Amino acid sequence: MSTTLGSVLISDPVDVCCEELLAHHDIPVTVKYKLSKEELIKELQNHEGLIVRSETKVTNDVFARCPKLRVVGRAGTGVDNIDLQAATRKGVIVLNTPGGNSISACELTCTLICSLARNVPQAVQSLKEGRWDRKLYAGFELSGKTLAVLGMGRIGREVARRMQAFGMRVIAFDPLLTQQIADQIGVEKLSLDEIWPIADYITVHTPLIPQTKNLINATTLAKCKEGVYIVNVARGGIVDEEALLNTLKSGHCAGAALDVFVEEPPKNPVTLELIAHPKVIATPHLGASTEEAQQRVAEEIAQQFVALSGKSAKYAVTGV
Ligand code: NAD
Ligand code: MLT
Repeated sequence: MSTTLGSVLISDPVDVCCEELLAHHDIPVTVKYKLSKEELIKELQNHEGLIVRSETKVTNDVFARCPKLRVVGRAGTGVDNIDLQAATRKGVIVLNTPGGNSISACELTCTLICSLARNVPQAVQSLKEGRWDRKLYAGFELSGKTLAVLGMGRIGREVARRMQAFGMRVIAFDPLLTQQIADQIGVEKLSLDEIWPIADYITVHTPLIPQTKNLINATTLAKCKEGVYIVNVARGGIVDEEALLNTLKSGHCAGAALDVFVEEPPKNPVTLELIAHPKVIATPHLGASTEEAQQRVAEEIAQQFVALSGKSAKYAVTGV
């Protein structure tokens, strides 16, 4: 692989340090955003490497029709926008930057939990519109409430630690969570069936895989406490959007905070109704959108490309 990385296309907005680091190691870089599928395929006839964020869909067709392509890098964690099976069939290496944006995603999750408890976005909007609704936007303390973290990987663990500082009891489910790690972090390791009836807040931090698709659904929501809050800063589809909307409408679920959606940007009428619901706080996939995270993932992906091309690092981008 060391001599095959001729040139690289960056097809989504990635921090400029990525391009700089590649150029500094004499790897030719082309930056072109918002390419249609046909434009992407045409452009990739000239490149061996491709760096994306989440907008570019690297489909089976792209792999099949771009014989020069040797390596695809995702400046981020999830590789949902890359057809991994097609990549494997074609022998294309897929790289990502797990961990580079974990703190940012964690901090957004904690922000959303606090915002749900105190109706912050709704109260801000109301005041901006000229109302003084102190009673309507009274909230709840987080201290003493129970937070369930489903998925205790990089982000879930950081969320657990921070919300403990608010005085929350943290309970967790993850098939890979050992009792030893749970004890170290100070969370209670429980089964999902134990979690549903006791959680005041449920936050999901799993990948979207067949086992987690619609993990939060009509059946599991019905098992939850009256007044439960749901948070999803992981992936759209882990929470069944229609089931969540129905349980918000019935009042069984007190609120939800969503950063990710089944379709992004959302066009489906159910998702749009969910976003518009007064008890929903919705953000446009901002989990990783901080200067620090974007610089980190851009640098990490560039360094992996440099390493693959057989060139040793000449300098490291500073700052984060
Ligand atoms: P991770 O791989 O470190 O952790 C995921 C955890 O989920 C693992 O510990 C795994 O054992 C667990 N898991 C797998 N199946 C499970 C199941 N059925 N039930 C419970 N747990 C299960 O991942 P991470 O870096 O913490 O990322 C978590 C999610 O957040 C991913 O979906 C990632 O794509 C997403 N993410 C979103 C943003 C954003 O911008 N909103 C930013 C970064 C990451
Ligand atoms: C990720 O998987 O890294 C996040 O969803 C953030 C992003 O899309 O960049």
